[in-house]
Amino acid sequence: YNVPKAVNEPVRAYAPGSKERQQVLDTFKELYNTTVDVPMYIGNQEIRTGKTKTINPPFDHKKVVGTYHEGEQQHIEQAIAAALEARKKWANLSWEHRAAIFLKAAELLAGPYRAKINAATMIAQAKTIHQAEIDSACEFIDFLRFNVEFMTQIYAEQPISSEGIWNRLEYRPLEGFVYAITPFNFTAISGNLPAAPALMGNVVVWKPSASQVYSAQVIMEVFQKAGLPAGVINMVHGDPVMISDTLIGSPDFAGVHFTGSTSIFNGIWGKIGQNINKYKTYPRIVGETGGKDFVVAHPSSIPAEVATALSRGAFEYQGQKCSAASRAYIPQSIWPEVKELLVKDIESFKMGSPEDTANFVSAVIHEGSFDKLAKYIDAAKAATDAEIVAGGGYDKSVGWFIEPTVIVTTNPNYETLSTELFGPVLTIYVYEDAKWAETLKLVDGTSAYALTGAIFSQDRYAVEEATKALENAAGNFYINDKPTGAVVGQQPFGGARASGTNDKAGSVLNLYRWVSPRTIKETF
Ligand code: ALA
Repeated sequence: YNVPKAVNEPVRAYAPGSKERQQVLDTFKELYNTTVDVPMYIGNQEIRTGKTKTINPPFDHKKVVGTYHEGEQQHIEQAIAAALEARKKWANLSWEHRAAIFLKAAELLAGPYRAKINAATMIAQAKTIHQAEIDSACEFIDFLRFNVEFMTQIYAEQPISSEGIWNRLEYRPLEGFVYAITPFNFTAISGNLPAAPALMGNVVVWKPSASQVYSAQVIMEVFQKAGLPAGVINMVHGDPVMISDTLIGSPDFAGVHFTGSTSIFNGIWGKIGQNINKYKTYPRIVGETGGKDFVVAHPSSIPAEVATALSRGAFEYQGQKCSAASRAYIPQSIWPEVKELLVKDIESFKMGSPEDTANFVSAVIHEGSFDKLAKYIDAAKAATDAEIVAGGGYDKSVGWFIEPTVIVTTNPNYETLSTELFGPVLTIYVYEDAKWAETLKLVDGTSAYALTGAIFSQDRYAVEEATKALENAAGNFYINDKPTGAVVGQQPFGGARASGTNDKAGSVLNLYRWVSPRTIKETF
């Protein structure tokens, strides 16, 4: 298949004084000083119900930068009808035309829309310019470009034929519509979850996180500009329970593409189970959920490398990555040095609005998250088996600010070694050097999740031991690197156990889930 060779979009450095940086900051200012009114996109209509909620920057939560319109059940039903109507043509459109639309969307994001998608992500999701660039612009562009290549790899996979017989596989889209439920933390994931099934010929009803509607609207604008026909991707807002009940309760529900919490995903499975007799076809269930991602250091590891992996892996984007390092196992022999470097690094972090590019961290996403994190920090302050060695402060008067915090515990079962907090809190267990093998067992057994993890070691035997002992503990396993920052086409992303169905976003494996192949045997 002749398609443009996918390459990863170069990440812009946004150096001080650069034209690119100024462009993003100017767009930030412009968006910050106006208000956006985000509709629902259903078929060829932008629907404004008047039932609105405000969009508030997490780092300045009294400020209003926009509103979005919530729908009722009738709107969700309308979205299903619009998707099914669009399906009649979209499912039969040649793949080149589908590919061209998403490749054009990638070019728009790489060029004219880059500043806008980054600025919207900085404002409403409280990302720094660098974090926004990586996972709102570049990762999204990568998904769109690489998916086209993956699609053609699937189409190229054909059975053997023999004399007088021609066997073929035809990769049809699923019969019905796909429901995309997307998270606040990565604009790229939010865009990819509706885009990947749509590229394969499916139609989609998309519910973005309420905390991400600003950049979701930019994505819809880009899709429309790229020529995506009306009704192929419909974006709705509103009560998540009502939306899920309506979509999953439809006989035309054909699959869910989900990233979010384990408990919500478990609820989705339950609802699908309750409705199973209604469906025309068994739905595809694809989900990436939570994580309690580990860093385990061997006594042979280099303390400075471990400290940097922890400060970046645990605190970039306030730790609000499903891949974030949130528990670490450090041997006693190197702990004093790791601690000194880690604390020094954290003390150098500036916190505040992403508009000031000197800030390394900003606020957490909303009050619910702030309150939960504050509760766990208070518990650590009061605990006899834990102490806080960095951070520990919080303040919600202006924004939802939680200081990057490190809890050190002597208890291998301390609650925050297994409970996902989704914020800037890292828990460290310091182990006796001689207990390496036991520590690997602890890493494997302490948490129900298995998303990402990292081993640091200069000793190849120890790397091998950890790789084997932790074979089911992380879908993405890093050797001498932090456990965040998977790149599309390079590190296919996803986890097992309570972390999801491990369908590896950013690889051909994910796209297989969005086709319903038909085998055709023709005899001559
Ligand atoms: N690509 C994201 C990461 O690995 C999910 O951090």
